[in-house]
Order: sequence, then structure tokens, then C-alpha cells
Amino acid sequence: MRSADLAVTHCGQLITCRGVIPKRKNALQDVGLIENGCIASHKGRIVFIGNEKAFKEEVRLDKNGVSIDGSGLVGLPGFVDSHTHLPFAGSREKEFVLRLEGYSYLQLAEKGLGIQTTVKATRQASREELLSLCQSRLDSMLLLGTTTTEAKSGYGLNLKDEIKQLEVLKEAGMLHPVDIVPTFMGAHDIPEEYRNRKSDYISLLIDKILPEVKEKQLAEFFDVFCEEGVFSPDETRELIRAAKAAGFKIKIHADEFSGLGGAQLAAEEGATSADHLINITEEGILKLAQSQTVASLLPVVSFFLMLDKRAPARELIDRGAIVALATDFNPGSSMTESMLLVLQLAVFTMKMSIEEAVNASTANAAYALARHDDVGSLEVGKKTDLILCDVPNYPTLVYHLGINPVKHVIKNGKLVVKDGKRFWE
Ligand code: NIG
Ligand code: FE
Repeated sequence: MRSADLAVTHCGQLITCRGVIPKRKNALQDVGLIENGCIASHKGRIVFIGNEKAFKEEVRLDKNGVSIDGSGLVGLPGFVDSHTHLPFAGSREKEFVLRLEGYSYLQLAEKGLGIQTTVKATRQASREELLSLCQSRLDSMLLLGTTTTEAKSGYGLNLKDEIKQLEVLKEAGMLHPVDIVPTFMGAHDIPEEYRNRKSDYISLLIDKILPEVKEKQLAEFFDVFCEEGVFSPDETRELIRAAKAAGFKIKIHADEFSGLGGAQLAAEEGATSADHLINITEEGILKLAQSQTVASLLPVVSFFLMLDKRAPARELIDRGAIVALATDFNPGSSMTESMLLVLQLAVFTMKMSIEEAVNASTANAAYALARHDDVGSLEVGKKTDLILCDVPNYPTLVYHLGINPVKHVIKNGKLVVKDGKRFWE
């Protein structure tokens, strides 16, 4: 008998996403479905998952244990959002209106709008303001079923404000149930004051900010925007080699607007993920397919920027790449905390199957954060991060648009969202 302090019994469908992780090709079709599944947790970790008969034989719920009736609900691993720009201040709806009038994202960036607008607002924001913004966004995420999120700096673009963003993330992570995986992205853009001295900014990043982030242990990942007019592939390589030498794991914003070869570079340099890939080249697809580097796709961006082009999800999967999905939550190109919207757009606009989208938002997303031993699938030994959705079956998560079906959320074995409402302290 295994003792448990929390149990969820007879879920209509329990989607485990278990299996060999990362998942490629046909393995992405398997969501590890258990009909009428039960799950038991002890001290935040899963101790049992299986059918009702085995549950009754093997699990004993503690006297004060919590029991949740999963009848009529679909259970699945909490979503892992592996790409967000969470700690920003200000908003960009004015720029959105200009885009509706015909300006492109890059045209606005050339006018000094775009990322620079958010840099100004974020530099001006106090720690308290930034923290409170992060907390309310984390609230939205949790209510929408995200239990682990990556979060990048990159709107400070100087020592003080990059550190401020990362320290705020650290504090937010201690205060909020959602787990935060921090990324240092000082190489998100070239700040105004370094406009004509990009190499000096690269030196500042490598010689000053990176060592300080390392010393204070404020980030696990290092990310660069490899893009026309931002950091070239050579500059990206220089930056990521310095970051690797300092012990950071690597992500690259690759081939978003122009196919510069960021994907190949990510594979060659052993990056954990290459993200965006709207303009990935044939060679990039092949290189990613043969590598351990995750192709992180952000379908809201093409939708939000009203681009005709999308990342070639089908080709990436069919060739064997590890595909993950994420929001890219940021004020310029993806103003959403919703992983369900991401899944829906992946299916509706990128020819991914529902099963592929589910695995890419959980198991493979956890792999994109090097957290796959802990989260992203429901298996004995992993964290009890589980969401229960009020839908009759899992395809309805994608089929029924515009609602939030997340009824209960369990994080680290504790009920944190109950009946769609906040239940955490
Ligand atoms: O991932 N591409 C660069 N960075 C963000 C957008 C940031 C912004 O517009 O503020 C992205 O799309
Ligand atoms: Fe991004």
C-alpha cells in the first residue's frame, strides 16, 4: 500500500503524456490516455497513476488527505510555457492600432517603437510595480492551467534593469505557485544609447552583465534575438559561446522574420531550443531534426502579427525534430498567457494534430526547459502538477474555442485553483 495526501479519482480521461521524452515523430501521437484514471500524490510527487481497480488495491489516502472527484473531467499535466517575456511594464495597444492601419512590426521597430517602447516603460517601473505585474500575469497563467513557465529579461538592456527584471522574477517565483525558469536575454535588442556601437553593447553583455547574472545566480538560460538589424549569426555565436563558457544553457530567437540560419546555429552550438522558426530554411529543418535542440513554435505570433507565414510544424515533425509549443507572451507580438489558445492555433493554423499539440505543450515543453525529469508528464516520481478540465474528452480542449475549461489545478500536490477560482494563498 502507498499512502497519499491527495487523490484524484475516476477522471473521465486522464492524459498522462508519459513515454520516452523528448517525443519525436509518431511518439507525438501518443498522449498516454487512461480511461477512468486515478492519480495519487504524496508530498508533492505522484505515487500512483492507473485505473480504479489498481488504485483501490494499492493506495491508502491519509486521514486528512484531499480527495477530488474527477468524474466527467479530463485530467492532464499542467501546461509548461517554455517561452515568455513575462517581466515587462507598459502596454503597446497604440502600436497594435498602428499595425491595424498597415504598419509592419519591423517598420514600427525602425521608428523606435516596438521593443524600445517596452524598454522605456520597464526601466521606469519600480521593482514593486514590476513584481505586481508579474504576479497578476502568473495568476492568469495558473487559472489557464500553466504550472511552469519560462520567463526572460530583455526589456532592461543595461546592468541595473536587466538585474532588476531577473530579481523580480526570483521574488515572484518564491511568492507564486507557478514555477519560473529564468532566462537572461540582455541580447534582446540593442539599446538606444548603443545604437551605433553595437560591439560595445556586446562587450557590456559579455564582460559585465553576464558575469553579474551568473554571480547572483539569477538565470539558467541565455537567449539571443538573432535577426536582421538585431544580432547577426556571428554576433549570436560570440554571445552564446561566452554564455556557455559561463555555464548557461542556450536558447535562440531564430529565423523569426528572416531566415538567417539561427536554427542551424542553435543545433551546431548545442542550444536547448531554437524558437520561432517562421522563416527557417530547408537546411535548418534538417539540422534541427538531427539534433537534440528543440524547435519551439509560437503560433500566436504569426496570428497576432497577421503574417501569412507560419513555422513549418508539419515538416519539422515529419523529419523528426523535437517540437514544443509556447505562448511567447509579450506586449508586441503575442499578448496572451493562454497555452490553450496556443494549442488551438497550432491545430487550426499549423496542421498539427491535437495529440501532437498536447505533447508539445507538456512533455516536450518541459524538455525545452530541461525540466522533463520533474514536470510535463504524469508519471510516478514526477511533481503532481495536474489540471482538470471541464470537457467531455480531450479533443474538446481544442474544439471548443473561447472558453476557459480549466476547473481545478493541482500544483506540487496542492489544490491551487478550485472550480475555476483562486484557491492559493
Ligand atoms: O519573441 N522577437 C523578439 N522578441 C519578442 C517580441 C518582443 C516585443 O515586441 O516586445 C518575440 O516576438
Ligand atoms: Fe520571444
